[in-house]
Amino acid sequence: MADDGDRHRQSRLFTDDDGDFDADRAREESLPVEDGEVIDTDDLADHQRYVEGRGIYDERNRVNDLTGKEWKYATKSVIAESYPPAVQHELRSEHGGQKPPRLCAELIGRFSKAGDTVLDPFAGVGGTLLGASFCEHEGTGRRDAIGFERTERWIEIYRAVLEAENEERRARGEPPLAEQEMRHGDCAELIDDVPGNSVDLLLTDVPYWHMDELEQTRNERETRESKLGSFDGAVDADGTGTDADDADSGPASGEEGGERQTKDEWLAEMGEQFDRFTDAVAPDGHVVVFIGDMYREQSYEFLSADLARAIESNAPLTLAANLIWYDPSKDLHVYGYPFSFVPSMVHQNVLVFRLEDDAADEQASRSSPV
Ligand SMILES: C[S@@+](CC[C@H](N)C(=O)[O-])C[C@H]1O[C@@H](n2cnc3c(N)ncnc32)[C@H](O)[C@@H]1O
Repeated sequence: MADDGDRHRQSRLFTDDDGDFDADRAREESLPVEDGEVIDTDDLADHQRYVEGRGIYDERNRVNDLTGKEWKYATKSVIAESYPPAVQHELRSEHGGQKPPRLCAELIGRFSKAGDTVLDPFAGVGGTLLGASFCEHEGTGRRDAIGFERTERWIEIYRAVLEAENEERRARGEPPLAEQEMRHGDCAELIDDVPGNSVDLLLTDVPYWHMDELEQTRNERETRESKLGSFDGAVDADGTGTDADDADSGPASGEEGGERQTKDEWLAEMGEQFDRFTDAVAPDGHVVVFIGDMYREQSYEFLSADLARAIESNAPLTLAANLIWYDPSKDLHVYGYPFSFVPSMVHQNVLVFRLEDDAADEQASRSSPV
């Protein structure tokens, strides 16, 4: 316990050379918590500011606009939240892999600041873009977002969603969501037009690995005993079957010419794509990627781990966290009962990367005036 009266009920972490409680160090270095456990709010350091109702904000925060209390909550590695079928859910559901815009807004709030730029190179029907717009009204301020999408239909849906949502918002007397910039085309080309270091957060949901007969046939040819076996009965993080067939209506690269990708080809492509994207990311920026694991014929496909390794080994990015989005409202699917344990997938992974130190230094030197 602290020896500074009742004011600093601080742990023994902040001690001076004699092992006594060091109140100055605690104030300077500790995570400020509003409820008095750490510091007296009347006694803030120069870099601290009390935000009414939210806690203490540290002006040195380069990651987000969260107060210490909010930051602490935001470091939880599990986001246990079911998002209601809102924001024109029915319209967006034509795309089977869409993400809840408010979940995207939540992640944008953790990894960017008001006025920052967010890029989604695989934008689909715009979960990220809508999330960035929500931040203006339900967060600390709007982020500008750019989306790349190669399937025109998904872009049309994004625009239709925005129009319908804004009509409803106007009727409720709420301000409209801002339209974000959706660019049509292949992200591998569109990324060339994004200036270096201009993206503070890359938030995306990668095109799914199209599990199909190609790999099955190839493997069966190699060995009948192949663990990869049949793709029938694949279960993704929705627990509703794979998103592979409904997530992307456009052909996946590698799919042209009638053949879809093997898992290794998909991983190699993703590694190359993220390497391409990284130049655009600012030195303090983050790259955040949704990816669901899958279960298939007696075998758990640890796609999140595979993808994390593929990205780390191809792009100058370091994995900082694997957050779990757990959706408590997901139906349970009992596939193996009573003979075999098959997980009911009610979670998705959210991989969080930051630039490797060398890459961050190089990008920082590129952006500093000569
Ligand atoms: C999993 S979905 C993203 C869904 C999105 N998070 C949403 O909320 O709608 C991946 C998207 O990437 C698109 N895509 C795949 N390869 C692409 C490429 N090379 N360039 C641009 N878009 C691509 C697909 O058409 C698909 O809509």
